[in-house]
Amino acid sequence: VGEEIYYFDSTDSTNTRAKRLAEDGSVHGTLVVADEQTGGRGRRGRAWDSKKGVSIYMSLVLKPEIDPNNASMLTLITAMAVAGGIEKTTGLECKIKWPNDIYWKDKKICGMLIENDLMGRNISQSIAGVGININQEVFHSSAPNPVSLFQITGKQYDIFNILEHIMLRIQIYYDLLQKNNTALITAQYER
Ligand code: BTN
Repeated sequence: VGEEIYYFDSTDSTNTRAKRLAEDGSVHGTLVVADEQTGGRGRRGRAWDSKKGVSIYMSLVLKPEIDPNNASMLTLITAMAVAGGIEKTTGLECKIKWPNDIYWKDKKICGMLIENDLMGRNISQSIAGVGININQEVFHSSAPNPVSLFQITGKQYDIFNILEHIMLRIQIYYDLLQKNNTALITAQYER
């Protein structure tokens, strides 16, 4: 993953961009990342607070060659990779709220929007969008209970360092998934 990277100073939504790129033939693992989203999308039709330069707004194009019965694993591995990347770079112990929100105590650090396109029973492409609150000092959105890493620790973080640690973990978990090692993924997720 991440061998092809599209970086935008500003875009409407990295999920929308990634979907268009995937439809135009972008390869599995393509990463779309933006400094700002003008139309960041959350779940349940909510907007996602996407101010410039303070956060990670990223989407991965996945064209998974996996058993369709394991489709839900894409959600689990993305959540584990994000939680692990945050813990590694900040030392904060964060929790996954099923299936794929990342919380610190009762506050949300990260949300994910996974959009699957099906062809018959198979997933033809999946867009895994991740928004992580990193250096925000305040929030303006309707999202419930948001918190940034800065608000928790008082420190400003290097966005690309966190992104790198997340991508490394996505690669490791995705390899496990391709080898059908779902038992290990599930065990680690539950832990
Ligand atoms: C949620 O409601 O919890 C999901 C939020 C997902 C936000 C991310 S930011 C990057 C990607 N692009 C979007 O438009 N949404 C996702």
